[in-house]
Amino acid sequence: MTTVQWQRKDLVGIYELSAAEIELVLDTARAFKQVGQRAIKKVPTLRGKTLVNLFIEPSTRTRTSFELAAKRLSADVINIDTTASSLVKGETLKDTAKNLEALNADIIVIRHSAAGAAHFLASRLRASVINAGDGAHEHPTQALLDAFTIREKKGRIAGLNVLILGDILYSRVARSNIWLLTKLGARVTLSGPATLVPRQFESFGCRVTYDLDGALAEADVINLLRIQHERQRRSAFPSIGEYSTLFGLTKERFARTKPDALIMHPGPINRGVEIDSDLADCERSVILEQVTNGLAVRMAVLFLCAGGART
Ligand code: CP
Repeated sequence: MTTVQWQRKDLVGIYELSAAEIELVLDTARAFKQVGQRAIKKVPTLRGKTLVNLFIEPSTRTRTSFELAAKRLSADVINIDTTASSLVKGETLKDTAKNLEALNADIIVIRHSAAGAAHFLASRLRASVINAGDGAHEHPTQALLDAFTIREKKGRIAGLNVLILGDILYSRVARSNIWLLTKLGARVTLSGPATLVPRQFESFGCRVTYDLDGALAEADVINLLRIQHERQRRSAFPSIGEYSTLFGLTKERFARTKPDALIMHPGPINRGVEIDSDLADCERSVILEQVTNGLAVRMAVLFLCAGGART
């Protein structure tokens, strides 16, 4: 168990965190996962506090998970429907957030298409700001729940070979995972089409390879990423069919992986594109366990940032 003290009101990215802070979140999440296995799953940690979910991009897993995490911690939760909010009347993000703070919001969970949106609000608000995904920049709670799942399944992270396969260029999940896994001592390899996996990513401390079969053969964890069509300005490959043939995790490719290699995916999955549909549901897929673990991880993040853990 780590002994570092949590001193942050916000979680805007993994890049800023030390390995000890990451370990603290993972250890705290392990305790909250045990709470979730009790008959009474609710604790009073955030009683009297209000969390606002401000999602200006679509989400199923992250928004629901933050809402449930806050409710398990006894907070009140408000979900803003941004299509019916004053953002559509031209109000700025800062003014919207300031107004939510004026209504005594203690925690604002933000998802936004612009990189830096969470950092922008965190530096301007007294409320805790949690980044639920900002453009192609970071998705810190996704990387934390991925790490939690790897540690739970493999017993460690240091020394593991983690392959992240797919659209790296436009992926906030990839960036947060690279920062986190390299800080905790994993060997991270990126692969996919050269147009979506440029060699420049090696400056992040990971390896880029276009030898997919070689990378799959040595991987302990295979983390698949969806093609982020919503962020691509032009097509990075000729067709979905060609992508699937050349870079999808097919049964044939999977048969050549280590017998205990894990399949991970942050979701939403596109069956038959980045992953064969049967493989998404096979016993080595931990995709739904990632979602379950996201609840404990988000409880831990809310507790540490807004629940009085700071000294
Ligand atoms: N993994 C993830 O962020 O999923 P959602 O977009 O559904 O939140």
